[in-house]
Amino acid sequence: MLEVRRAHKLEGRVCVPGDKSISHRAVMLLAISQGQATINGFLPGEDCLSTIRCFRQMGVEIEERGSQLVVHGRGLYGLQEPRLPLDCGNSGTTMRLMSGILAGQDFPSTVTGDQSIRARPMDRIAIPLRKMGAHVEGRDGLDLAPLEIQGGNLHGIDYTLPVPSAQVKSAILLAGLYAEGETSVEEKLPARNHTELMLEFLGAQIQSEESRVRIAHSSLEARDIQIPGDISSAAFLVAAAAALPGSHLVVENVGLNPTRTGILDVLHRMGARIECENLTNQNGELFGDLIVRGGELKGTSITSDLVPRLVDEIPILAVVASRAHGVTTITGAEELRVKESNRIRALFTELSKLGVPVHELSDGLVVEGKSEILGGEVTSYGDHRMAMALAIAGLFAREPVRISDSQCVNVSFPGFGRLLSTITK
Ligand code: S3P
Repeated sequence: MLEVRRAHKLEGRVCVPGDKSISHRAVMLLAISQGQATINGFLPGEDCLSTIRCFRQMGVEIEERGSQLVVHGRGLYGLQEPRLPLDCGNSGTTMRLMSGILAGQDFPSTVTGDQSIRARPMDRIAIPLRKMGAHVEGRDGLDLAPLEIQGGNLHGIDYTLPVPSAQVKSAILLAGLYAEGETSVEEKLPARNHTELMLEFLGAQIQSEESRVRIAHSSLEARDIQIPGDISSAAFLVAAAAALPGSHLVVENVGLNPTRTGILDVLHRMGARIECENLTNQNGELFGDLIVRGGELKGTSITSDLVPRLVDEIPILAVVASRAHGVTTITGAEELRVKESNRIRALFTELSKLGVPVHELSDGLVVEGKSEILGGEVTSYGDHRMAMALAIAGLFAREPVRISDSQCVNVSFPGFGRLLSTITK
């Protein structure tokens, strides 16, 4: 049980753990590269550990030295048939991206995971992977995990994503590495492009132009990869500091890829004082420090065009919206209903328990600002981002907020509670 009490301000200079999306991709892509390479700044969270376990099961040697990993690549065709189902735990990224790679293998495999992931939609990957020639079969004839995959003999497709999803885009691009002919993916709204950037860095034949990405059958050459801090983890601290007058917080070495910085755009629009400094580019990704000064925020509206660039940050935005002047409206965010929990319902239910006037929409939420947050017990629904968003609500609450089922923060942010208490004044 995590308990968080009211704070006056946040102060300090911190680093957050490595980017989850990039950590997964680094292990997967280096596993199928030629040669050996090091990953620095890897996120040792539960989700990424699931990815490591799955690839080890397929014969990939991965050495762990703290936050440094050494991956011994086996090349595109060097993976071994796993003897047992590949367990993705709670990780949608592991299941969806790895399925793209498995679709290219000429051995059968089964991917499974925890109760949450077995209820999440997998038709979004099963449909395009079947179009490319893979056999993918879900539980009870439904496209739900466990999925049985028999790959090999893939051919390229032109595919328009029906939902904005980096996981689906990535699964198709990874299968495209193995396919005969060109594979192209069209996205109506740009979702995170870490897969494209890393594939290019490792030498794949890949081109991105406007809303379309094209990839041709290519082999990958191992190269060392540096992982930035996860902006989705930094977001909890940054948003909290921005909304607590008197705060002064620096978060160093954060990933600032523009497909991920929607949270900064929205916070700026709400009147937050956040600056980016020390920008560098490493392995195709932008890194930098975030300097946050606390103040008063005002409500805003978030619409579908922005959602892919801040899809994981809506829980924390809903929390700080309750502290802003005026109303915040979030629409076009129906994808939140199929995340680790139904985040629209979960936010509505738990923020209501804390006394925040919030209304549930089919595709989002309306949050009334300047509401007093009461204390009390709330649940995370086993969802790491719900647990952390509710913990931040505790910083603004009249009485302590206790979050049950909060172990799940380890999925993406091991040490969250400890780090938060060191900067809370
Ligand atoms: C991710 C993509 C997003 C995001 C998830 C990580 C990724 O999911 O919510 O936390 O690493 O590609 P969708 O692709 O389902 O939008």
